[in-house]
Amino acid sequence: MEYQPKILAFAGSLRKESYNKKLVKIAVRGAEEAGAKVTYIDLRDYPLPIYDQEIEDSQGLPENALILKKLMQDHDGFLLASPEYNSSMSAAFKNMIDWTSRNASSDEVFLSCFIDKVVALMSASQGALGGIRGLVHVRSMFSNIFSLVMPKQKCIGGAGGAFDEHGNLKSTADQKDVMNIGKNLTEFLVKHKR
Ligand SMILES: Cc1cc2nc3c(=O)[nH]c(=O)nc-3n(C[C@H](O)[C@H](O)[C@H](O)COP(=O)(O)O)c2cc1C
Repeated sequence: MEYQPKILAFAGSLRKESYNKKLVKIAVRGAEEAGAKVTYIDLRDYPLPIYDQEIEDSQGLPENALILKKLMQDHDGFLLASPEYNSSMSAAFKNMIDWTSRNASSDEVFLSCFIDKVVALMSASQGALGGIRGLVHVRSMFSNIFSLVMPKQKCIGGAGGAFDEHGNLKSTADQKDVMNIGKNLTEFLVKHKR
């Protein structure tokens, strides 16, 4: 049977009407059409305390961190849309990465959620740059924790007026580019038979 890549998709925003959630859902369709098995999650469903080493030392990892770690370990790649907060990523997104970067047991391989995962990035923002400055940090972070970040990314500026009532991008060119983020990630994973 042909290899079917497994992709975990989420946005780095907790907001119900998040533009980044809309954006990543478009890329999910591109990935699914290309043959991937995609799991979409909403970070709001996995609340975590702000990372505090004293919590970790006294109580271990929170239940939601363990669930997220397992989800990440079980997938080959990540489709991510990251909002830009003060030229970087959101605290919710970074906090999730910080918790899941910690070992749950002494025999676990360090950074097991991230090693050799292939990551595709997107962002949406009200601003004209579409969040591209934040993706510089997201890209750097994933590279430093041993993930492979796809060269192509897509940023949507003026996000407040960019989506239609169905959550699609009004610009057909942008819609295609975002679908292709998901498609290209899927094709890369298939090509490299992860
Ligand atoms: C704390 C904070 C900082 C922000 N900083 C930036 C920024 O540096 N650049 C930018 O383009 N937008 C910035 N924004 C606007 C966000 O891009 C905007 O709120 C966007 O809708 C967030 O993504 P979401 O719709 O997926 O929640 C900021 C918003 C907040 C709340």
